[in-house]
Amino acid sequence: MKYPQTRMRRLRGEDFVRRLVAETRLSPDDLILPLFVHCEKQSADIPQMPGARRLCADDLLRECENALRLRIPAVALFPALPAEKKDADGSEALNPEGLIPQTLAAIKKRFPQLGAVADVALDPYTSHGHDGVLNEKGEVENDKTVALLARQAVLLAQAGADIVAPSDMMDGRIGAARAALEKAGLQNAKILSYAAKYASAFYAPFRAALGSAQKGGLDKRGYQMNPANRREALAEMRMDLEEGADILMVKPAMPYLDVVRDAASNLDAPVFAYQVSGEYAMLHLLAGGDENSLRELMLESILSIKRAGARAVLTYFAPQAAPLL
Ligand code: PBG
Repeated sequence: MKYPQTRMRRLRGEDFVRRLVAETRLSPDDLILPLFVHCEKQSADIPQMPGARRLCADDLLRECENALRLRIPAVALFPALPAEKKDADGSEALNPEGLIPQTLAAIKKRFPQLGAVADVALDPYTSHGHDGVLNEKGEVENDKTVALLARQAVLLAQAGADIVAPSDMMDGRIGAARAALEKAGLQNAKILSYAAKYASAFYAPFRAALGSAQKGGLDKRGYQMNPANRREALAEMRMDLEEGADILMVKPAMPYLDVVRDAASNLDAPVFAYQVSGEYAMLHLLAGGDENSLRELMLESILSIKRAGARAVLTYFAPQAAPLL
């Protein structure tokens, strides 16, 4: 290719031709909406995440109805529990009448067509905020945690979760969850593995939203991945596929697009990416309240995640983005 035979700008001159040669397109089908639920009578704003709320039961169903109307295929649920429901072992996670099982049942009753994703992890339920149970040294105990997570996965699938999503980063949890689901007769429960989940500072607003933040910070580097590592992510993802994962997740999204691309190029399974709370908050700050900039920022950011290879994107922007696509 040589100038002037080739002028790259020819295909950028008009809107019609830009549309025709676009390599990546967004549609509402690409989006999953994360929602926070709590057991209060009223919804509550989350100051760190403009526009997001901890939802009461009625508002949650309203959000689900809206998602369905916008052709968003699925929602992902995260519980915010009061301190008195938390303990060192996260035992509320195994309560079949707990907040998330009840919410799943309500969603599937009203909107059976809407995909429901439920997080498999103990951190919303533990008093210390870690994703597992601790030993005497204060370390997260892998195998004990995995046994609890497998039970939690079954409980969530029984309550109506179409997709269970282990987000804890214990070793062996996908295999344990898959075996437990098969044993319980839940062959069609899909596992979305947070396979490459990094120990990231971009989760801060989420932890504030769920009350899982701790004074002096919460160090999850003993189980979540080191942000320095790229090849290790492929090893994690291959293992999870072998253990029975159906879909793989990279999280966060924007600072880890190289990992998304590696996964999409090297593996045959669908790869999703999670545009996390810190990414959402960051873009809101940049827009500074200007609706137009926010629209452009959200569409460009989601598009870039898809261009990197993500088949779908979990994003708090989903309800704002979907009508623009
Ligand atoms: C933990 C979990 C985290 C998020 C979802 N599930 C963060 C953490 O490790 O504390 C973060 C999502 C976000 O920041 O939007 N099970």
